[in-house]
Amino acid sequence: MMNNNKKQEILGKQQKYLFPNHLLYYTTPLPLERGEGMYVWDVDGRQYLDFFAGILTTSVGHSRPEVNEAVREQTEKLIHTSTLYPHEQYVNLAEKLAQIAPGDISVSYFLPSGSAANETAVFLAQLHTGYQEIIALRHGYSGRSSMGMTLTGQASWRIGGTRISGIKHALNPYCYRCPLKMTYPSCGVACAQDVEDTIRTTTSGRVAAFLAEPIQGVGGFITAPPEYFKIVQDIVRQYGGLFISDEVQTGFGRTGNKWWGIEQSDVQPDIMTMAKGIANGFPLANVMTTPEIAESTRNAGLTISTFGGNPVACAASLAVMDILEEEATPENSAKMGQLLRDGLLNLQEKYPVIGDVRGMSLMQGLELVKDPVSKEPAPDAANHLLQSTQEQGLLIGKGGLYGNVMRIAPPLITNEEHIEEALQKLDRALGDVQKAV
Ligand SMILES: Cc1ncc(COP(=O)(O)O)c(C=O)c1O
Repeated sequence: MMNNNKKQEILGKQQKYLFPNHLLYYTTPLPLERGEGMYVWDVDGRQYLDFFAGILTTSVGHSRPEVNEAVREQTEKLIHTSTLYPHEQYVNLAEKLAQIAPGDISVSYFLPSGSAANETAVFLAQLHTGYQEIIALRHGYSGRSSMGMTLTGQASWRIGGTRISGIKHALNPYCYRCPLKMTYPSCGVACAQDVEDTIRTTTSGRVAAFLAEPIQGVGGFITAPPEYFKIVQDIVRQYGGLFISDEVQTGFGRTGNKWWGIEQSDVQPDIMTMAKGIANGFPLANVMTTPEIAESTRNAGLTISTFGGNPVACAASLAVMDILEEEATPENSAKMGQLLRDGLLNLQEKYPVIGDVRGMSLMQGLELVKDPVSKEPAPDAANHLLQSTQEQGLLIGKGGLYGNVMRIAPPLITNEEHIEEALQKLDRALGDVQKAV
């Protein structure tokens, strides 16, 4: 192999100089070197079709020239200001986001990560309502700060235990493994009622907010029935709480035909958090809310974010927004997502290891099981499939509480040919895995 020494050198330094708890994909971790559009290349020069987009982040593809150009221009002008000084890029981005946000959500606070955005959203809800307690969902993922890990509903992502009090977790709408052992739609979305039961039995009876992802990302692309969030919002309002939609994975058109995942449920959130796809990989996140809720922060004390709203990241994001509006539109996500989903459903008929195909548009999950009747989770098959897809030259993700869900979420610029190529590679990899189940 051409660059084998380079690969060994990178992996050697990773092992010696980085924390050992970095989660790395593949039996031998994969050092990447460059990217272009839908493809990335490793240090050995091997090409991969990227259907995970660096965890749903390179929304408009790798090394997109318009984004690179915007970054170059801004880098030459001014790289950093801190939030002490307003600048053109971040006010323009805030204005742009206000145009595509639902309802009267129009006021932003930029931050460097999704974890920081969720933390800020929770403080904002507490400040506005005067209540402290928060309801989150089991299997959810909210970040790696103390608040993020406590909001998260999966033990393995809560390193060192939870530290924040007043956060409670309701049952999640996991239809494939219904926590109430019921079946949709005859269940009448009974799981939504658990939000009320949780408030009445585990809180003071007044809550600051309910926080959830419209599709649970790290949780394994768990997708609620369409009525679920509306029922939950009505309940949460009765107990004084705001609705926080974590759009870190579902935002920017990924779920199809709408800009935001929560719009699929016809729910008007009070606060939204976003990150990942917002700037194609530049570290940027945002909390958005209504002018009325934002007003609660006016005399609440001092706050800054050193890297929040960084001019280069905001310039990248503005270029991303143009591409999303003109080319990688929410309509394109819906159209391409349908093709992808149809292909995955065909693969499910061929390979019984696929117990469930779920998600929306360009956010599709495959839950792998030992057999479709017992539905026993098959984490070994998921590891095998991850490895086999890499060998086929395809990058996809993995997740779920049981480690058995494949996450397929390409950049939003994906076209028919990319989807066809991904499905062929998946087909070959699944053939390999099915033999071993
Ligand atoms: C839904 C969701 N919220 C929040 C976060 C945290 O974002 P970050 O890793 O940028 O802190 C993530 C990260 O994967 C996420 O998927």
